[in-house]
Amino acid sequence: MSATRHDSPGTVPASQPALRDQFGRSIEYLRISVTDRCNFRCLYCMPETGMQWLPKSEILSYEEIAEVVRQLAPLGLRRLRITGGEPTIRPQLHELIRMLHAVPEITDIALSTNGVRLPELAPLLREVGLDRINMSVDSLRAERISHIARRTLGFDPVRAAQAAEDAGLGPIKINMVVMRGINDDEIEDIARLTLTHPWHVRFIELMPVGDMRALTWEHVVPSDEILSRLRAIAPLTPSAGPERGNGPAAYYQWAGAVGNIGVITPMTHTYCASCNRVRLTADGRLRTCLFGDHEVDLRTPLRAGEQLEPLFRQALADKPKEHQLLQMQIGGLRALSQVGG
Ligand code: 5AD
Ligand code: SF4
Repeated sequence: MSATRHDSPGTVPASQPALRDQFGRSIEYLRISVTDRCNFRCLYCMPETGMQWLPKSEILSYEEIAEVVRQLAPLGLRRLRITGGEPTIRPQLHELIRMLHAVPEITDIALSTNGVRLPELAPLLREVGLDRINMSVDSLRAERISHIARRTLGFDPVRAAQAAEDAGLGPIKINMVVMRGINDDEIEDIARLTLTHPWHVRFIELMPVGDMRALTWEHVVPSDEILSRLRAIAPLTPSAGPERGNGPAAYYQWAGAVGNIGVITPMTHTYCASCNRVRLTADGRLRTCLFGDHEVDLRTPLRAGEQLEPLFRQALADKPKEHQLLQMQIGGLRALSQVGG
């Protein structure tokens, strides 16, 4: 894929104060992919075999990632999310979190994980400054987890989420990618976790990204269908949910539940108008939109000791108004594991 390159950065005046893109959206949230590798091969994300990983030399070191954050923080960056691939399989992840936590402007650090290593890592990650986690839970059944993840790692997602909560990493968000005929019969069971746990269970519409030879548009379950199935159990009332600022999920609650139910609807609604995020890929590119190829290489200037601010402003100026996801064909886009979810 060809990245968008900018040989003459700085068409946006460096004196421009607030971090706002051309549509007035402010950017205070950065998602950082620390690796493209994963201990799973989820049906909706990666092929089962034959993934080509980035060579180590192309991956930003923890020190380099921290330097990007230190340079962006004075421009308004406040909140971070660590993603992958699976971030917890990169060795010594706690060292990165410790460095990011030391950047004074940063008020919130979250981690997106499949949860496999949480029972072992949660207390240490909390100790070095991680605030909270999002965990992918596509099934509660061991056999089905192995079928979807195409790896058997003998792991219990509820126990992993509980370990994170016990370590102080709440509010816990649980994400389920719903696939018709594959796991949609567990929508109700996974929603019922909110009856007994103060967790935010979010159902995500399957997106046509990455290598999904096993999946088609027929596997997409629209959020309205998910919600009507849950309403058939008991009425749902709208709820504020856990988001700070503009999150992409709409939230509901069953009477008497201690947690919330959310839907994230990339396929049936766009939330681009309130999008407040940019992404740093594991190989040091700044992506201003999950879709399309709006990327700026930060690694080369970073390794050359240059200031990143003009590049960051340029990238923001190029942030697209909205994505064209619904018009795209399955398979034509980079997998989320490559661009950092
Ligand atoms: N469709 C929807 N969500 C996806 N994710 C990854 N790939 C897809 C896809 N094709 C999201 C899910 C998953 C997380 C790792 O990334 O939220 O839980
Ligand atoms: Fe790994 Fe997450 Fe992709 Fe699954 S969705 S293969 S856990 S990166």
